[in-house]
Amino acid sequence: MSSSFTSKLPKLGTSIFTEMSMLANQYKAINLSQGFPEFDTPDFLKTKINQAISDGKNQYSPSNGLPELLTQIAELVQRKYQAKLPSAQKIEGLTNITITSGATEALWVAIQTIVRQNDEVIIFDPAYDSYEPAVELAGGICRHISLAAPDYAIDWKKVTQTINEKTRAIIINSPHNPTGTILTQADITALQTLIEKHDLYVISDEVYEHMTFDGLRHESILRYPELFKRAFVVSSFGKTFHCTGWKMGYCAAPSALMAEFRKIHQYVTFSSFTPAQIGIAQMLKEQPTHVDELASFYQQKRDVLAKALKSSRFNILPSKGTYFLLLDYSAISELSDTEFCHWLTKEVGVAAIPLSPFYQADEQERYHQKNKVIRLCFAKNDDTLLKAAEILCQL
Ligand SMILES: Cc1ncc(COP(=O)(O)O)c(C=O)c1O
Repeated sequence: MSSSFTSKLPKLGTSIFTEMSMLANQYKAINLSQGFPEFDTPDFLKTKINQAISDGKNQYSPSNGLPELLTQIAELVQRKYQAKLPSAQKIEGLTNITITSGATEALWVAIQTIVRQNDEVIIFDPAYDSYEPAVELAGGICRHISLAAPDYAIDWKKVTQTINEKTRAIIINSPHNPTGTILTQADITALQTLIEKHDLYVISDEVYEHMTFDGLRHESILRYPELFKRAFVVSSFGKTFHCTGWKMGYCAAPSALMAEFRKIHQYVTFSSFTPAQIGIAQMLKEQPTHVDELASFYQQKRDVLAKALKSSRFNILPSKGTYFLLLDYSAISELSDTEFCHWLTKEVGVAAIPLSPFYQADEQERYHQKNKVIRLCFAKNDDTLLKAAEILCQL
C-alpha cells in the first residue's frame, strides 16, 4: 500500500481478542480469553437449518428479515419485557425489528443512522471495541466516561456534566462486557431523564440480555415505552444460541427510526443468512425454554469457576450477568494487565483478556497503574473451567 495512504482509523490495530486468541493457540493455553462458547448450538436448531438448506431456502430473504422470525422475536420481547404494557405500547415485529448480520451490524447501522458530522456520543469505558470506530466513520466523536472497579457503576452526575449541545447519543451495554455488571432501574430512570431533557438517542447493546444471575432482572429498554421512543435496542442470536460464528442478530426501534435504520441496512448487507433465519424462527417457536434456561445454565458455570478459584490468590469480582468473570490479580503480580495476560498465556497456560484495551488510549497508562484486573470467559465446558482454575490456584 502507498505510504501516502491516510488511514480513516489511524488509532486501530489488531483487536485484543484476536491477539490473545492467537497467543493462546501458539502456546496451547486454555483459552478463556475470547468470548465464545466451547459447546455447540442446540441440535434442534442445527437440524432445522440443515432442513432449510436441503429444502432449497438458499436465496435472499426480505431485507428486513423473514416475517416469521420478526414475529417470533416480537412475541419473545412481549413475553419477557412487555407483558404488563397496553397493546398500543408493545413492539410489533414487521415495523419495529430488523434482522442483521450479528449485533455488530445492528450497532454499526444504528450508529450510522443517527450520528452526523461532529456529533458527540457518550460511551462508558471499559467499552466494547466496535462502538468507537463506527462513531468515527460516521464523522462523530466519542466522549468516554470511565467506570472504576470494583462495581463499575455509572456516575450520572459525570454524564450530565459531559452532555453539551453537540451530544447526540448515549451508548449503554447491559449486561456489560467485560465487567459482568448490569444496569439497575435507578440507572434507567437517570438515563431517561437525560435523554428526554437533552433530546438525545440511546443505543442499547443488550446482547447478553438472557444471562442475568441470582434472580436479577435485565432492565431492557424494551420495558420502558417512553425511553424506547428514542432508542435502538440490539441483540445477538450468537450469544443466545451458542452460534457466534453465524453472525445473526437484530435491532429493535420505534417505526420512524427503524425506517431510517433500514435504509442503511439494505446497503450494508441487504439481508442475513436465510436458512439461519428459518431455523431460529422455529427454535424460538418450538423450543422457548432454551432462552428461559440460559440464565441458570450460565449461572451454574459462573459458580463452578468461582468456587474452583476460591482458594486462589485472585480476588473474584461479582458477575451479575454475561459469561465473564473479572479477577483482581494485585496479590499476585505487579505487571500491567496486558503484560500479565501475556505472561499468563505463555508461561502459565491460561489465556485471559486484559481490561485496559477497553479504555480510551489516553486513560490506559493511568488505568494500568491503578487497576490489576483481567477477564475470564466461562462459556466453556466444566472440565475446561476446572482445569484452568487448578492452574490459576497455583499462582
Ligand atoms: C457487548 C457486545 N456487543 C456486541 C457484540 C457483537 O455480537 P455479534 O457477534 O452478534 O456481532 C459482542 C460480542 O462479543 C459483545 O460482547
